[in-house]
Amino acid sequence: VEIAFSPITTARLHLRRPLEADARAIFTQYASDELVTKYVGWPRHKTLADTQTFLSFSDHAWDSWSAGPLLIEDRESGDLLGSTGLAMETSHTASTGYVLARRHWGKGYATEALLAMVSWANRLGVQRLYALCHAEHATSRRVLEKARFLREATHPKYVVFPNLGADIAQSVCVYSAQNR
Ligand SMILES: CC(C)(COP(=O)(O)OP(=O)(O)OC[C@H]1O[C@@H](n2cnc3c(N)ncnc32)[C@H](O)[C@@H]1OP(=O)(O)O)[C@@H](O)C(=O)NCCC(=O)NCCS
Repeated sequence: VEIAFSPITTARLHLRRPLEADARAIFTQYASDELVTKYVGWPRHKTLADTQTFLSFSDHAWDSWSAGPLLIEDRESGDLLGSTGLAMETSHTASTGYVLARRHWGKGYATEALLAMVSWANRLGVQRLYALCHAEHATSRRVLEKARFLREATHPKYVVFPNLGADIAQSVCVYSAQNR
């Protein structure tokens, strides 16, 4: 049974599907920022065309799964804070991640968004929700642990992170949601 998506509201956040009109804000707020994108799984956006490619990817995911990337907005002001979402791999397996504009770090927003992704995954009937994280990315590991994800494994020299050098495999931790 398909469940129609309606935007998710948490105590401080509003999570909604990305639209074409969001390209400029996504690009300037976080997707082109060198520090913000250091540990993410996608190449830093160098031009607005890269952001438009992301939006096409997002539309494709949403068309296929009725789930996909979400933008994180401040519930009060509507300001764009960052992005999260569910990447569906099968009807019962999904991965998640999160990214926030630099000036919004350290306020607990990532943990709040991640907990919302766990609830959404549960509503969709996802049985395995996991996240990959660079082994040295202490902040992100802390976010996963605060949201009660369990570290299943650490794989040495396992994944290339596009913004850390195209030919250097990095160590990653695999985490999965336990509070289901
Ligand atoms: C990772 C990121 C999303 C965290 O967002 P955030 O909203 O600042 O995270 P939260 O405030 O919910 O939690 C951060 C936690 O990490 C802790 N922390 C921060 N820096 C740390 C460090 N160097 N070592 C250990 N813990 C650290 C904070 O103290 C906090 O834990 P606490 O609540 O117990 O004090 C944000 O830094 C970001 O967007 N980074 C760039 C994108 C990215 O790397 N995404 C993840 C890819 S795997």
